[in-house]
Amino acid sequence: MEPIIKIEHLNKEFKMKDTDVHALQDVSLDIYKGDIYGIIGMSGAGKSTLVRCLNFLERPTGGKVTVNGKDLSALSETDLRKARKDIGMIFQHFNLLMQRSVIDNVCFPMEIAGMNRREARKKAMEYLKIVDLEEKAKAYPAQLSGGQKQRVAIARVLASDPKILLCDEATSALDPQTTKSILQLLKQINREFGITIVVITHEMAVVQEICSHVAIIDQGNLVEHGTVEEIFLAPKSREAKRLIYQGYEKVAEMKGKRCVRIAFSENSSFEPVIGNMVLAFKAPVNILYANTRDLDGVAKGEMVLQLPEDEELAKKMVAFLKNERLAVEELESYVS
Ligand SMILES: Nc1ncnc2c1ncn2[C@@H]1O[C@H](COP(=O)(O)OP(=O)(O)O)[C@@H](O)[C@H]1O
Ligand SMILES: [Mg+2]
Repeated sequence: MEPIIKIEHLNKEFKMKDTDVHALQDVSLDIYKGDIYGIIGMSGAGKSTLVRCLNFLERPTGGKVTVNGKDLSALSETDLRKARKDIGMIFQHFNLLMQRSVIDNVCFPMEIAGMNRREARKKAMEYLKIVDLEEKAKAYPAQLSGGQKQRVAIARVLASDPKILLCDEATSALDPQTTKSILQLLKQINREFGITIVVITHEMAVVQEICSHVAIIDQGNLVEHGTVEEIFLAPKSREAKRLIYQGYEKVAEMKGKRCVRIAFSENSSFEPVIGNMVLAFKAPVNILYANTRDLDGVAKGEMVLQLPEDEELAKKMVAFLKNERLAVEELESYVS
């Protein structure tokens, strides 16, 4: 099967007066139909530049982007406009038309496409139903909460019937609870309409909530990619580790205290393993952080343990945990 988005040796340089900014360097990535692909990195890493290269809002300075089998650089302006119809986009700040009502916002792309007004309004109501916002059809954006505005933006993007949806920090302006509900809506859209979704974010929690795959970019370079499960269980790069550990509270307190991160991949609980270890070694461990969550319907989780001072004992405990087929990693060197 061919990927729906194929990125090959992508480069993007911005020529500035004094210096050149190399925003993307030799990025290659395959995204398959039906994926929810996360692209994560710190601010300034090149994430927005990368998504903008996927619809040629930004023209790459090198490399190739193939979407739906079409090499975008080989297309005429007219064909590029056509190709873009398959690619929807939502943003951090929603980009709604403030002087239009909710339903008129959703109708907008259908009107542009030449659909008659009655039919457009009928369809718009269907999309508003999907995003659970029918009763706000006549409201204006200013009267809506952030989450509701993003729902309108999602209804509007569905109205242009995209095959691919690019989300650039779509939940970054929202509180954690609203973020969850928007991510669930994206997941539902992915399932029901088979739309491939690219999620740009700086938060690992967002990736863990909905993504099937993740790519980590740092200073314009792709440093690691794979399934969310692979990366979460055994992050290899320093950047991946940093992004995973950024969710830990009290990170500063973990420094220099013989802390290890353990991650679970099976549908099971940590407690028996920890309990058995404490019994076996007759020595207590501190649980400094624990978090379990639902990843694709399977209970997954991680913990940060503080092991005893005694080095021999701590080593034996690490061996015990590894023997239980847990991913175990010394935390110290990655906690900043
Ligand atoms: N239009 C532009 N002109 C010049 N530099 C840009 C432009 N867009 C982005 N950059 C630079 O490219 C780098 C990556 O930016 P961006 O893709 O916005 O990062 P992110 O979305 O990960 O925060 C940054 O150094 C940024 O300043
Ligand atoms: Mg950005």
